[in-house]
Amino acid sequence: MLLDDLRTALGETAVVTNPDDRQPYERDWRHTVKGRALCVVKPRTTAEVATVMRLAARDNVSVVPQGGNTGMAAGAVPDGSGTQIVLSLSRMNAIRHIDPVGMTIEVEAGCILKTAQDAAEAQGRMLPVSLAAEGSAQIGGIVSTNAGGINVLRYGMTRQLVLGLEVVLADGTVVDGLRHLRKDNAGYDWKHLFVGSEGTLGIVTAAVLRIMPRPKSVVTALLSVGSAEQALLLLKSMQDELGDVINAFELISGFSLELVDKHFGLKAPIDAGDWFVLLEASSSLPGLRDAVEGALMTALEGGTAIDGVIAESQAQAQQIWALRERITEAELKEGRSAKHDVSVPIPALPAFLAEAREALETKAPGTRLNAFGHAGDGNVHFNVLLPEGQDVGEVNRLVHDIVAAHRGSISAEHGIGSYRVAELVRYRSAEELELSRLIRRSLDPRGLLNPGKVILP
Ligand code: FAD
Ligand code: MLT
Ligand code: ZN
Repeated sequence: MLLDDLRTALGETAVVTNPDDRQPYERDWRHTVKGRALCVVKPRTTAEVATVMRLAARDNVSVVPQGGNTGMAAGAVPDGSGTQIVLSLSRMNAIRHIDPVGMTIEVEAGCILKTAQDAAEAQGRMLPVSLAAEGSAQIGGIVSTNAGGINVLRYGMTRQLVLGLEVVLADGTVVDGLRHLRKDNAGYDWKHLFVGSEGTLGIVTAAVLRIMPRPKSVVTALLSVGSAEQALLLLKSMQDELGDVINAFELISGFSLELVDKHFGLKAPIDAGDWFVLLEASSSLPGLRDAVEGALMTALEGGTAIDGVIAESQAQAQQIWALRERITEAELKEGRSAKHDVSVPIPALPAFLAEAREALETKAPGTRLNAFGHAGDGNVHFNVLLPEGQDVGEVNRLVHDIVAAHRGSISAEHGIGSYRVAELVRYRSAEELELSRLIRRSLDPRGLLNPGKVILP
């Protein structure tokens, strides 16, 4: 019997069947999807993960990999059948090695992102992927969703940091690709298939990631601007003046900050406006603060910014970042929302915002727009708070049709999960969908890995 064999292989405590104990693993972070698992298993080693996969394949049972369960596309939770195994990587959380010269960190999938960040910092290095969920999100999850976050503008998505992966395939085969090489062109670069695959192609059990020099100075500024157009003019002028030391350029609507004030009592240090930009720059060279101050003065004198403040201390920088990082939770407290994690070509951002806002006002009256996000990457979280009875799908369609008209993407960083399976079919070509199915079928011919997520076989 499968449960007995799992207990024999992993130990009693590594196989959770009690409904109360299973519950946290069965609901997504937004509590909009509630599944029911056969059991939750917590392997400690790659070999144990391989055993779970072999036993599941033997009994034709599907497996849902789970990291920190902070995903925004409900990709890590089981369906309601009570037949799926949730495979939690939480117990595989070792940091195996940090190389400050070769600038790499080798880490197991269940290591919490913040733990890995802190370990790199302790060696004068920086693991640059950073997001508000970093205190819970795990390395396996950020690789499997190709997480973005606030530093993509300078350091790219998680994909740009992955040098090597160890994965376990649907039949239990372990593939060790944990190489610490900057350059490796020997055959297909298969690791990139698993980055962003959301648990549908294999289980990520460990990763080798690039780390960067830890910058000696970091300067954080909050500015108010009159429009999204002005925000892009500000982005250009800041890049003209500061070059490539800008890590983050976050756009925040006045309404987003109203929600953060309402639910957490956190207030912006400058007068409220329609839009705010949170900018962060870092460098190890002297004079960064003066350079940012000069660029800010140029923006204020040139009219691309209305007002602005540079954090005087790390504490004030954290207060400014808290305004940004608490938006998601504030939105959850405010009520039901339709989330849109979309990207368009950066110059198209103002037009997209204007057209999508207009569409909401005319076709979905009573909705409220909570727009914020990573404007420097062309990625905005166009999150729509819904009045009673408003259909989510209708709003998704409204927004995504405008994204498609700008040749954008319906998922910039959160992935498809189970939320956006139908949307992906609508907005990707038949050829791309068939190629994706081909890849999925070749790696998981029996459809046992995270079925119902991303793309149906
Ligand atoms: P989970 O939610 O556990 O899983 C995510 C997906 O990956 C699922 O499909 C799961 O099956 C799969 N998976 C997990 N671990 C493995 C593994 N080891 N092997 C194979 N598949 C696996 N995301 C961003 O990109 N940018 C942001 O700025 C951002 N901000 C956020 C802010 C908040 C407050 C919250 C709650 C979430 C935010 N997210 C953001 C979303 C989320 O944190 C990321 O998607 C993150 O990468 C998920 O990591 P996780 O470990 O929680 O993964
Ligand atoms: C963020 O950037 O804060 C996240 O991606 C979360 C969200 O979309 O709410
Ligand atoms: Zn985001």
